[in-house]
Amino acid sequence: MSQLLRVAVIGAGYWGPNLVRNFRDSVDWDLMAVCDLDESRARRVIGPRSTVEVETSVDRLLAREDVDAVAIATPARTHAPIALRALDAGKHVVVEKPLADNSDAAAAMVAAADEAGRVLMIDHTYCYTPAVQYIRKVIAEGVLGELLYVDSVRINLGLVQPDVDVFWDLAPHDLSILDFILPGGLVPRSVSATGSDPLGAGKACVGYLSMPLARDGIAHVAVNWLSPTKIRQFVIGGSRRTLLWDDLNPAQRVSIFDRGVDLNTQARDARQREAATVSYRLGDITVPALPEREALATMVEEFAAAIRERRRPLTDGRAGLRVLSVLRAVSESLEREGSPTRPAQPESALV
Ligand SMILES: NC(=O)c1ccc[n+]([C@@H]2O[C@H](COP(=O)([O-])OP(=O)(O)OC[C@H]3O[C@@H](n4cnc5c(N)ncnc54)[C@H](O)[C@@H]3O)[C@@H](O)[C@H]2O)c1
Repeated sequence: MSQLLRVAVIGAGYWGPNLVRNFRDSVDWDLMAVCDLDESRARRVIGPRSTVEVETSVDRLLAREDVDAVAIATPARTHAPIALRALDAGKHVVVEKPLADNSDAAAAMVAAADEAGRVLMIDHTYCYTPAVQYIRKVIAEGVLGELLYVDSVRINLGLVQPDVDVFWDLAPHDLSILDFILPGGLVPRSVSATGSDPLGAGKACVGYLSMPLARDGIAHVAVNWLSPTKIRQFVIGGSRRTLLWDDLNPAQRVSIFDRGVDLNTQARDARQREAATVSYRLGDITVPALPEREALATMVEEFAAAIRERRRPLTDGRAGLRVLSVLRAVSESLEREGSPTRPAQPESALV
């Protein structure tokens, strides 16, 4: 067993305690400190009679030599300033999503991590669920064939957020999953987004976005705060098989359908297409046995592995940057009534 890595968690609000629990339970990590501007929150998270220390100053925490890495779970606008200081102090960093509140700050974080030779990871939590890890694997192995379409539905009765619209609130999950499972990541040549605000909340509460994928594939994401039914479904149609991920069905989260439509003739023009016959494949439905494991346990394990193996983590800063760049294009397209908008490629400046 190699030496434990030493970590501190910054931010002990709603999400930070989940990180604290998983670092504490991990065989890779020694949790040294929890830092929050509000001391009582940090104390409450570590509980009584703990040897974990409480800090209220990020600067004091970063000056400590017995901390190798920090996990940042503070509000999005504070991610970049804290992460840049941490990288400058030689710490490895995992940041909660979103990487930053704007792409320029996110790009600066990625560049700073490169320069410092430190790991910069983003906690795209869904990517570490057994279902999404499995989906990534079957796509990479070609089980589904060529990807024809992805249809994601993430709707529920949600809180209308004061600062962001429904796209910025919910679509980061879909986009980070797409970035993780698509070979080559999420780099659509354009994004089209339309939304509506039937309540007069001053922002989109119902939204639809679509993006062309490689070849002639297409991805579509529906997000909605006004739906009384909660749906969390991903359909991934491939030329060989179709996968359904229903995150609210624990007994059968993932199903792979050996079913689909085959066009028997490769039609070149309208007459040929009319003559083409369509046949339906009605094969088996496979339901894989997925392990039950908390996503954050896998996430903190990957953070440690990336540091030890001196490699980029599966969800690195660039993944966070790609997601932000698509979200920004979503907002631009929304303003232009759904016109296809090309996401900026901030990564090209970094490579
Ligand atoms: N991965 C996920 O699924 C998931 C889920 C929820 C939230 N999050 C992310 O986690 C982050 C935190 O969200 P939250 O809901 O826990 O917020 P929160 O407001 O509940 O907690 C933030 C905490 O950070 C502390 N804080 C703020 N600035 C600080 C600073 N400079 N130094 C030290 N402490 C500071 C605050 O006192 C507060 O306790 C956000 O980026 C959010 O998007 C991720």
